[in-house]
Amino acid sequence: MTPYAATLDTIRAAHERIAPHIHRTPVLHSTALDALAGFELFFKCENLQRVGAFKIRGATNAILQLDEKIAQAGVVTHSSGNHAQAVALAARDRGIPAHVVMPTNAPRAKREATAGYGARIHPCEPTYEARMATCLDVARQTGATIIPPFDHAHIIAGQGTVALECVDQVDGLDAIVAPIGGGGLISGIALAARELPGSIRVIGGEPSGADDAARSKASGELVGMPKPRTIADGLRTGLGELTWPVVRDLVDSIVTVTDEDILNAMQLVWTRLNIVVEPSAATPFAAVLSPAFTRAVASQGVRRMAVVLTGGNLDLDVRDLVPAV
Ligand SMILES: Cc1ncc(COP(=O)(O)O)c(C=O)c1O
Repeated sequence: MTPYAATLDTIRAAHERIAPHIHRTPVLHSTALDALAGFELFFKCENLQRVGAFKIRGATNAILQLDEKIAQAGVVTHSSGNHAQAVALAARDRGIPAHVVMPTNAPRAKREATAGYGARIHPCEPTYEARMATCLDVARQTGATIIPPFDHAHIIAGQGTVALECVDQVDGLDAIVAPIGGGGLISGIALAARELPGSIRVIGGEPSGADDAARSKASGELVGMPKPRTIADGLRTGLGELTWPVVRDLVDSIVTVTDEDILNAMQLVWTRLNIVVEPSAATPFAAVLSPAFTRAVASQGVRRMAVVLTGGNLDLDVRDLVPAV
């Protein structure tokens, strides 16, 4: 019996289950970025996924597995980010109600996008305690099932489907590089990679202002991060009970980067690949460009790697780009 939340079998089953509901996102390559990084890079474009982020994979996998009677009472989650939109859309696909608890300071664009997918928004105070309490309240009152953002076997298996597509789309991959927030994505990737042929390394990118996973891995004990400070809003979360053991045992290394590194990587992706990615998504590429990354993989013969561009949802106001005249 595996001690971990998912296996290659559950990840393959998840892929079959969600395939009709997700896009098989493209992989982009740029010789200019290869030259800059000194590696062969294949960018897996989950920013072009439905809802603009990989999160639809896990949410769909979880929601499709609810028993019909339970599903009819709906689902609830608390999030101000991509998971909220993913739960809203996956619930709409299944034809069931979705409730999303959002702090009152959530960006208007995210609130509107989530409501646009048909979810009912429940505003709450912007503290973790208030979010949890409101979420539990809604679950109690409506009978809705809570869909957590990362620490759930079905979410982890769903996110791991990214790895299956990467190995299918790129021959001879040596590594997959992904960001770490709560660790759902990288856990799914690591659990798939360990059973796939070839020895595919799994490397995490994390902001130095939210480096709880890197510090936990270095110390061998799960450490929290009470006040994360980073522009990468999807990566401010700490690891969970299911994701920590996977990160501890199966992620090869974690490279931390500054917000300045993340902005630089984001600009390179925008201008060289001509696609929009959000800061959390640029983080693994920023890691690849850092000297610490080269040191981390120096002895491992890593040459060809997939870099997961996890999302592209940004509050962009194009008018800010117009120079004052
Ligand atoms: C764009 C983006 N990238 C990465 C992550 C981190 O994913 P996880 O919490 O599974 O580590 C998130 C989480 O919200 C995200 O929205």
